[in-house]
Amino acid sequence: MEKKEFEKEHQNNFEEEKKELSGKGRVIEESILIGSEALKKAPEVYGVETGIEGLDELFFTVEVKGKKVVKKPLGGIPAYSVFNLTGVSDTGKSLMVEQFTVFQANKGKKVAFITVESPANFVIASLKLRAAALGIDFDKIQDNIILIDAASNSVLRENLPDLLSTLAYVIKNYNVKFTVIDSVTGLYENKEMMARAVVRRLFNFMKKWYQTALFISQKRSGHEELTAEAAGGYAVSHIVDGSMVLAKELIDSAYKAKTYGKEVGEIVRLFRIDGCRMSGHDTKTRFLEITETGLVKIGEPISKK
Ligand SMILES: Nc1ncnc2c1ncn2[C@@H]1O[C@H](COP(=O)(O)OP(=O)(O)OP(=O)(O)O)[C@@H](O)[C@H]1O
Ligand SMILES: [Mg+2]
Repeated sequence: MEKKEFEKEHQNNFEEEKKELSGKGRVIEESILIGSEALKKAPEVYGVETGIEGLDELFFTVEVKGKKVVKKPLGGIPAYSVFNLTGVSDTGKSLMVEQFTVFQANKGKKVAFITVESPANFVIASLKLRAAALGIDFDKIQDNIILIDAASNSVLRENLPDLLSTLAYVIKNYNVKFTVIDSVTGLYENKEMMARAVVRRLFNFMKKWYQTALFISQKRSGHEELTAEAAGGYAVSHIVDGSMVLAKELIDSAYKAKTYGKEVGEIVRLFRIDGCRMSGHDTKTRFLEITETGLVKIGEPISKK
């Protein structure tokens, strides 16, 4: 139906709405998609390997075969998904995204790494260590990693349009498929009421450019462990496709020692996938291990039941 006709037809019945239509409100036609049109644009979801031991097996899709529903492993995080990795300090978030970056770079893929916390020269040194731990020759893969140093540049950190234009330039020029941001929290420092707006823009950008993306968000220790009150409770987890929550706990009682099968005084690291819109996923709380060489491994569920 023509826009004009529509307005005419509703003139009498919806006086209020008509005011909106002829006034400041407009019909945004390009945002109206019938199902089949929308489906044409839907990307096929497949698994993107992370290089993190124990993680890729935790995602699956379901297929209907006859009358049976069968689980089919994805073998990685869903392609084109945007994940939020959250947890307090020292839980292994940076190690995880560095491992992912090096792993994909080693497969010949280009990864954009936006560093907001630590200057690029420190991040690259850390990435080199991750590569060594994975037995990867860093010299061969280093140029597959494109760093955007928002840690050293306050314009990039404080002006989102500039950051997004820089990232778009990088994606186009280097044919980037994966984007990592460590951390999004640094992009709304001192303006935390903007958290959702900032993350929403980043999320929409990743979707537009078909990026599979990992965003780190920092969590305050006051917030309950292992829940995705992500980015310190700013509801970031509602915007992204899924969250991974990292936690650590000091074994300070005989009860905890028994629960986790550890000694009093030890630290136990925990991991959980807290929702994923784009595929099925494991929902158990699992042990997370950081090896001496700084590699993250996802282990067994804490409860075998
Ligand atoms: N070889 C290693 N290299 C780096 N970190 C290691 C290594 N071995 C063990 N670790 C542990 O991993 C932790 C680093 O985790 P990571 O830097 O990923 O934390 P994070 O969750 O990103 O914290 P933050 O929010 O402060 O950035 C170290 O503090 C240390 O306890
Ligand atoms: Mg970190």
